[in-house]
Amino acid sequence: MTEWVEVATLQELRRRKRKLVIIGDTRIALFLVDDRVYALADTCVHKQRSLTKGTVLHGRVICPGHQWAFDLESGRADDRDECQPTHDVRIDDSTVYLDPRPHPAPHRALQEARMSKEP
Ligand code: FES
Repeated sequence: MTEWVEVATLQELRRRKRKLVIIGDTRIALFLVDDRVYALADTCVHKQRSLTKGTVLHGRVICPGHQWAFDLESGRADDRDECQPTHDVRIDDSTVYLDPRPHPAPHRALQEARMSKEP
């Protein structure tokens, strides 16, 4: 069962367009783009730079470290077999909640599904 954590209001995201959320040891980057909120692990899978400090462009966040571009929806990196973990977001009455448990990386989930079918 999902344990939603209250992390922001739409009003503050409309002002800043992004927010770093820290839940326990987990750092999560929130982005507001076209009135939609996206949540990705803040720590880049490449060399651990902060995605909250990245540039948002054409549905992607570009890491300030080495300019890898991650899709805001899926977390997939352009032209690479790498994926930034993502989190589910829920908005209720202008309050933003997120699930602190990350989605498994899509390509890893696919590999695991294939492996579980092997004899
Ligand atoms: S640290 Fe993010 S691309 Fe290198």
